[in-house]
Amino acid sequence: MQLFQFPYQYIMKANLPEQFRNLITAAEEACGKAYAPYSHFKVGAAVLLEDGSVVTGSNHENAAYPAGVCAERAALSVLDMNDKSHKVKAIAVTYDNGEGKGKPISPCGICRQTILEVQQWQEAPLAVYMCSPDGQVIMLEDAGHLLPFSFGSEFLSAPATQSGDL
Ligand code: THU
Repeated sequence: MQLFQFPYQYIMKANLPEQFRNLITAAEEACGKAYAPYSHFKVGAAVLLEDGSVVTGSNHENAAYPAGVCAERAALSVLDMNDKSHKVKAIAVTYDNGEGKGKPISPCGICRQTILEVQQWQEAPLAVYMCSPDGQVIMLEDAGHLLPFSFGSEFLSAPATQSGDL
């Protein structure tokens, strides 16, 4: 039997370096832009690029429920994936449940897959900061640990040319 283990850090927002405190604050502010009339669960995400700039997104629900978009994917969708000069250092995610407390949020499976695509695309680790409204943070330096045994582009590489193929 094999064991799967991965490193993560449990830390308070107040004890993080300023750049990451600011990133989490940006995610908190993005919760204010959430459109969540069905779940009333407002989520905000903030993406830190290598040049220090930050882009944010929030969840955007729909009366046809599956048409809704999570905050993480809303934020990541504004990246120009044709331009590798803007790698993503980190993504922070948090929520506003109206109670001001709770446990650190955990991105859904589709968002994990999306975050991982970005990490794979940029060929550099992307840190994930999963936050709670009361300042708890679970931090993973490698988004790949959110989705072990993931499906990725390596499965889709062109098959070797076989004799007889043109
Ligand atoms: N949601 C996110 O935006 N991100 C997550 O990581 C988890 C869930 C949203 C989707 C939906 O609008 C609401 O939270 C409740 O599931």
